Amino acid sequence: PVDPFTLVVFGATGDLARRKLLPAMLHRDIAGQLPSLARIIGVARREMDRGEYQAMAREAVKGVDADGALDAFIERIFYVAADAESDEGWDTLTALVNEREDDTVVYYLATGPDLFVPIAEKIGTHGLNQPRTRIVLEKPIGKNAASALTVNEGIGAVFPEASIYRIDHYLGKETVQNLMALRFANALFEPLWSAAHIDSVQITVAEELGVEGRAGYYDKAGAMRDMVQNHMLQLLCLVAMEPPSSMRADAVRDEKLKVLKALKRIDTSNAASVTVRGQYKAGASAGGAVAGYLDELGEPSQTETFVAIKAEIGNWRWAGVPFYLRTGKRLPSRVSEIVVSFRQVPHSVFDGETPRPNRLLIRLQPDEGIKLFLMIKDPGPGGMRLQHVSLDMSFAAAFQVRNPDAYERLILDTVRGNQTLFMRRDEVEAAWAWVDPIIEAWQASSEPPRSYTAGTWGPSAAIALIERDGRSWSEGD
Ligand code: BG6
Repeated sequence: PVDPFTLVVFGATGDLARRKLLPAMLHRDIAGQLPSLARIIGVARREMDRGEYQAMAREAVKGVDADGALDAFIERIFYVAADAESDEGWDTLTALVNEREDDTVVYYLATGPDLFVPIAEKIGTHGLNQPRTRIVLEKPIGKNAASALTVNEGIGAVFPEASIYRIDHYLGKETVQNLMALRFANALFEPLWSAAHIDSVQITVAEELGVEGRAGYYDKAGAMRDMVQNHMLQLLCLVAMEPPSSMRADAVRDEKLKVLKALKRIDTSNAASVTVRGQYKAGASAGGAVAGYLDELGEPSQTETFVAIKAEIGNWRWAGVPFYLRTGKRLPSRVSEIVVSFRQVPHSVFDGETPRPNRLLIRLQPDEGIKLFLMIKDPGPGGMRLQHVSLDMSFAAAFQVRNPDAYERLILDTVRGNQTLFMRRDEVEAAWAWVDPIIEAWQASSEPPRSYTAGTWGPSAAIALIERDGRSWSEGD
């Protein structure tokens, strides 16, 4: 178990708290990782008493097989009605937090980003930012570089950087962490990990779902701010960064930052040729017919629900290697994967047959695993014919254990004080510095997003984007 702690969740009645945070804590409780004194204090505006919030929590975790541990878990939960914009409730919260002097206190801001600074300020004025306190911010941090700076300054006025945990839940995914193990715990890949041997990299984060009742938030964000600025760029950093000297937070974050700063600028001069944005129209998913984005939103909008980008990193290791990024809602299936394509052999010794280049496929979800595609001889007496096969490592088959949700790992890391899997302030700002000119270029262009039918792989322009370079999007094989 970790040290005794109090987790204060702001936005406790919201979607993230109910869908992710409470179940994550229950899972850790079942695993025996919560000390007997750990408590959760839910904070939200809505007036309700502890019993009512406990009932809400019980409902939120009903999908978890708690096997007798549920009642004890619910007993850990408290509730305070408080408002970031008034003093209402803050004395009650202060008294409750201060009941336990030695606890590590984690303030988790599962609220909209406009409340981050007001809440932090209130924490400060009530003297709740003691040395053993930490603050956790959900993405998005701002909506561009300027607003991210304001958030970072505002939070930084109350908490030191060493106590600020900016969550990107992709970094908590098992297979994303595995990417670091794969690269840095094996001698095999690193010598080949550069433009000399790698032809291109693809990163796909495809979702089958649409905006799922979050259209109000999503329409202001779009896929670029919702997925690319954070999750996709973090994945790109983990693939492209230099080996850090250790897994210490700053050693890893220094290397990621260098990648973000080396990304080649995309702006009005080249956005039309290296980016594609799309918006889904009515179509079908596995569950049947689905509405288009504008029907769900109920008003006109140019917000993109799909993005494809050819990104490049201007440094020695990656010069000339395209990183194709692709993400979207209402695509045919939920699949996140990274595909590293190696170069062609320099000369084929097999008459009339050119071996297919090797590829390393890292599947983040679903069916987490790693596949290495190799050429072998087709078995049988028919002469030297080549065949493409994969060395396959499926996590489910190799390890018969439940794959913990990213939040389980990340919340406990905040209690342990381990910032390795969290974004540092300068990383967030550097990511915006690359993203902003792309969004500005789109806004300056008279072209609306290209439409694509729900249930397809995005606009045909996204296929053209990669085919122009003589390559194609991976289909997982
Ligand atoms: C969130 C985005 O950060 O990530 C959502 O806001 C998206 O729009 C989600 O659906 C995807 O996360 P996961 O873990 O389901 O791949």
